Amino acid sequence: MVEFSPFAYAFHEDPYPIYESLRREAPVYRNAELGFCALARHDDVLAAFKDWETYSNKGGVALEQLAAADGDVTPFLSMLGMDPPRHDAIRAIVSRAFTPRRVTRMEPRIRELAHHYLDRMAPKGQADFVADFAGKLPMDVVSEMLGVPSADRDELRTWADLVLHREEGVEGLPAGAMQAAGKLYAYYVELVADRRKRPGEDLVSALLVAEVEGERLQDPDVIGFLFLMIVAGNETTTKLLANALYWAQQNPAQRDKVRHDPAAIPGWIEETLRYDNSTQLLARTVTRDHELRGEKLREGEKVLLLVGSANRDEEVWERPTEYDIERDTSQSLAFGRGTHFCLGASLARLEARVSLEELRLRIPEPEIREEGLARVHSTNVRGFAAMPIEFPTA
Ligand code: HEM
Repeated sequence: MVEFSPFAYAFHEDPYPIYESLRREAPVYRNAELGFCALARHDDVLAAFKDWETYSNKGGVALEQLAAADGDVTPFLSMLGMDPPRHDAIRAIVSRAFTPRRVTRMEPRIRELAHHYLDRMAPKGQADFVADFAGKLPMDVVSEMLGVPSADRDELRTWADLVLHREEGVEGLPAGAMQAAGKLYAYYVELVADRRKRPGEDLVSALLVAEVEGERLQDPDVIGFLFLMIVAGNETTTKLLANALYWAQQNPAQRDKVRHDPAAIPGWIEETLRYDNSTQLLARTVTRDHELRGEKLREGEKVLLLVGSANRDEEVWERPTEYDIERDTSQSLAFGRGTHFCLGASLARLEARVSLEELRLRIPEPEIREEGLARVHSTNVRGFAAMPIEFPTA
């Protein structure tokens, strides 16, 4: 019988064979010991994303919260952990920072940042693609939106990485993650206090004067959002960039397409998101008893939406295990669907496109040294912590 536990798994191993067994043998899988269900098929995951009344975000979307017996929720609640109407009211305010115009306007700055890091890497002939590029640029972009000074960014990045780090087989948050969360929290408290005194053009200042349901947002709401931006906007994009490079190297025919034609880059990004998404799963809490494929789901029960599995479902995708940058990826659930659909999707796509375009020009032939690869240990994010590359210098 197929068994699945992301706690034991930590996503540094290949989860796809297990997903395939789940889709076939247990599409509504129950882990009685750990007390969660998991949905493995595309249509079930999609339906759950769309039905927030039955599959609630209250109680959080990360697995660790499932380990707490009574739904002991994250200390810093963001809109990702809310349902409508409060979620929608906060999202409406925050969305103003993500309008297509505002996102498009960031392109030159993102290109500048990409140049900055590539200029440092290019003469050396070798680099760590994660430490020297992919781990830097998304954090800079988020930090600029939030008005975090450049001097503080490295420290913030270290804390954000620690918040996500998981130990194999350990349920709940490791001590290091808790400590890092505490440091991030203290930093944000100060940042918010500072912006109250000296408002600027940044998103934090905008949030502090915005009104939701006739009321100003309170500091915990704003701090919750800052946490969300660092974790949701930073890690995921970092992982996407390195995953794109990795899968291109594993599939030389696909890699040649992007080397010859930059117009192929958006397809490269979308297929990477489908094929090996950084966000592998999201948790929900069931709000009413119901039946799904003959399994009874009970009110209060935790359900994992296995995005990584849905994106390889044989019912939806032809040749799902093939990496094909020209395929139609419109059914991909990489950015979720429905109420919580990734607010940063167009920004993430822009960051990835600009980064890979500039990389193609400055370092057109990076070779990954596979023996130096290291994966992150995480219960929901899949990707690389280290990726040594070598390349000819100009
Ligand atoms: C490859 C990069 C990214 C991936 C794969 C990704 C994935 C996702 C997914 C799957 C969700 C839905 C969560 C749910 O339904 O529970 C989400 C939500 C969200 N993402 Fe992203 N994301 C990425 C990049 C970004 C970036 C760059 C930002 C912002 C700078 C961002 C901000 C958000 C926010 C604010 C939400 C919560 C939306 C809400 O609750 O309404 N994401 N993301």
